[in-house]
Amino acid sequence: MNKPIAEHLLVPATAFASYQDNTAARIDPQAEARAQDAGARVGISRAHESAALHVAGAATYIDDIPELAGTLHCALGLSPVAAGRLLGIDLAAVQAMPGVVRVLTAADIPGTNDCGSIVHDDPILCPIGRQDDGSAGGEIRYLGQPVFAVVASTRDAARRAAALARKVLQVEPAKPVLTPREAHAGGHYVVPPMHLVRSTSGRDAEGIRAAIAAAPHRLTDSLDVGGQEQFYLEGQISYAIPKEGGAVHVHCSTQHPSEMQHLVAHALHLPAHAVHVECRRMGGGFGGKESQSALFACVAAVAARALRRPVKLRLDRDDDFMVTGRRHCFWYEYDIGYDDEGRILAAEISMVSRAGHSADLSAPVMTRALCHFDNAYWLPEVAMHGFSGRTNTQSNTAFRGFGGPQGAIAVENILDSIARRLGRDALAVRRANFYGITERNVTPYQQTVQDNILEPLVGALEASSDYAARRAAVAAFNAASPVLKRGLALTPLKFGISFNVKHFNQAGALVHVYTDGSILVNHGGTEMGQGLNTKVCQVVAHELGVAFERVRATATDTTKVANTSATAASTGADLNGKAAQDAARQIRERLAACAAARHGGTAEQVRFANDKVFVNGRELGFDVLVGEAYLDRVQLWSDGFYATPGLSWDRETMTGRPFYYFAYGAAVSEVVIDTLTGEWKLLRADILHDAGKSLNPAVDIGQVEGAFIQGMGWLTTEELVWHPESGKLTTHAPSTYKIPTANDCPPVFNVRLFDRENVEDSIHRSKAVGEPPLLLPFSVFFAIRDAVSAAGGHRVDPPLSAPATGESILRALSAVQAG
Ligand code: MTE
Ligand code: MOS
Repeated sequence: MNKPIAEHLLVPATAFASYQDNTAARIDPQAEARAQDAGARVGISRAHESAALHVAGAATYIDDIPELAGTLHCALGLSPVAAGRLLGIDLAAVQAMPGVVRVLTAADIPGTNDCGSIVHDDPILCPIGRQDDGSAGGEIRYLGQPVFAVVASTRDAARRAAALARKVLQVEPAKPVLTPREAHAGGHYVVPPMHLVRSTSGRDAEGIRAAIAAAPHRLTDSLDVGGQEQFYLEGQISYAIPKEGGAVHVHCSTQHPSEMQHLVAHALHLPAHAVHVECRRMGGGFGGKESQSALFACVAAVAARALRRPVKLRLDRDDDFMVTGRRHCFWYEYDIGYDDEGRILAAEISMVSRAGHSADLSAPVMTRALCHFDNAYWLPEVAMHGFSGRTNTQSNTAFRGFGGPQGAIAVENILDSIARRLGRDALAVRRANFYGITERNVTPYQQTVQDNILEPLVGALEASSDYAARRAAVAAFNAASPVLKRGLALTPLKFGISFNVKHFNQAGALVHVYTDGSILVNHGGTEMGQGLNTKVCQVVAHELGVAFERVRATATDTTKVANTSATAASTGADLNGKAAQDAARQIRERLAACAAARHGGTAEQVRFANDKVFVNGRELGFDVLVGEAYLDRVQLWSDGFYATPGLSWDRETMTGRPFYYFAYGAAVSEVVIDTLTGEWKLLRADILHDAGKSLNPAVDIGQVEGAFIQGMGWLTTEELVWHPESGKLTTHAPSTYKIPTANDCPPVFNVRLFDRENVEDSIHRSKAVGEPPLLLPFSVFFAIRDAVSAAGGHRVDPPLSAPATGESILRALSAVQAG
């Protein structure tokens, strides 16, 4: 029973066999084959549209695009200090380096020196010397801030010259502000503080404080949760090609081609029509290429324009860490009043994030954090305060979940503590707080939860994971095991789907049917590995009743679909799937009219399925009808558009209906920890996740598994450390920053989709799946907390901060063992 940890840590070879068995059990291939035969192209497990290219190394990423003759390479010179003034630079020394063609500074930007996405407070390159306002030099915002760009004949030459930054910059250093606590103490914020107060009894924040004080029990505590690097496998990259008349074509690894187009246009002082941005795929984005691809697109474009040569800027991994931001770390202070059942009666919480040097997406991230503090729970009286602390660090940004995970983990920590203090099972306390169906169903931001499936979903997982029996088994194991301790936790999630900003919830698509019957689809979303193109192709194939292979998706391109939203907030398939369906439906209707005109019957009676068209008792090949329609001069291509209905949001009062619907899920994790070393291992995870009526169960399960492991990395091994004096990020490579690998998957990993269609009219009643499952690994963190708690006989609340690294676990252990 008491095996050494090493044995627990080894993943047995049989684990992978059991993993495959699980996969087979999770998808019903026979049912899917029957649906496919009947003509369905959605609800079918299909490999990712680029899977074969991915594994063969034949998928084209930006750096794989054949380089044009005369291509130059760019590297960035970075600030060696975290704060201060940039007085001057010895450009001649950089210029004299071998291979250097040109060194560019802020003064070489013909338009605006800004790449901020919402608030325009993000310089592309740090300005140098005396400024227009009379100040002595450009403001240095963080260690790693780009100051100049070297353009050279090779990438290596550019990097060697850029590395001179430390020597050639004349700086007047100042003391940096590095932590959220310091920023909060000094009142330094990138956007004004936000407050969301809701009381079902008409109280204000003061009244809510009184309700907390009057509650039978009170919990006052704080929590620290670290940030997270996106660690996309393909780093930031842009390849800019000058075009006639001063225009520019930028191949950019970005989730937001339209925003790149606008920011490059501003930097070059060009109209948007002169900037063409294109992205076939990213090697991962995870939010890190939503706004932060802009700096590189702008620099490459400025250089290409200045030199009239193609310029590529591909970041080295260390520079990517040093220059770009990531998930915000959060620090919370809370005060909670609760009853004997563990029900939260009143709550007040302050959340302080590390926003970094500029606003970037910190305001919407904080909004989403405040709108997800409730997670699955009804909070009758709540006062929330959000502070986005300005610090001399990289500007933090979107990362899968976009603040939602940071909001929800706080309430989970609170419920976990309440359960321990009451000596009750944490699942029972969570349940006591669940949203109701007809009452107790309004969120703090006043949206009614109309699709609550928490009880059936959690109940099903509780049964399939054998939660109750394993709870008893864990207790028995711990009673007999002095060194190794096990822990178990079940955590639920509810995640709002839509952009909080209403106008972002729109999308366009373009579908072309060629005369040979092949189909090309283009839409405003971007592919980052999540399978968006696969789903959109399925939707188009389904609508036109053709084989999946007939449909091909092309690169996202600002010259094809204009004014697109970022592929973010998990809305990619919801928005672009609907837009593509709209386009395909118009073509189908025209084809049906043509078929009826030629072959008789009415257009409504024409059926499209399995590459065939059924019209007036006859059967035609899809391509035959397309050929006929072309001869009849029928338009064989169409645009499509979609805007999510029913949304509203008042930024001032933080109320409305920001979300079209909610996605749900739950996970049970069991861990073992070694109380001597702080090592731990995930032994088993069971997941039940709601993807509505899944468009593609295989792709969705992949998203759930990926998000679970990625979120587990955030909460356990991925630790960011800035030097407390210099402000240098010391964890800036895989050698010092530990992301999970395939070996960190638990040997027993049961992942299933909860099969229930969306109550809203989403694309084929599916639900967004990109981000919500990132909240599932809360169960890993709370299982670790449970194991630590067991080491102290469950008498003391473990002060476990995230990430729960070995050190963090040992610190929490010494507190519970002393307590
Ligand atoms: N999956 C892969 N493989 N790579 C990624 O970069 N990004 C995630 C998620 N899943 C990501 C991913 C994030 S942050 C979001 S918002 C969604 O995918 C975006 O895509 P969707 O809206 O099409 O789901
Ligand atoms: Mo995802 S964080 O919304 O790009």
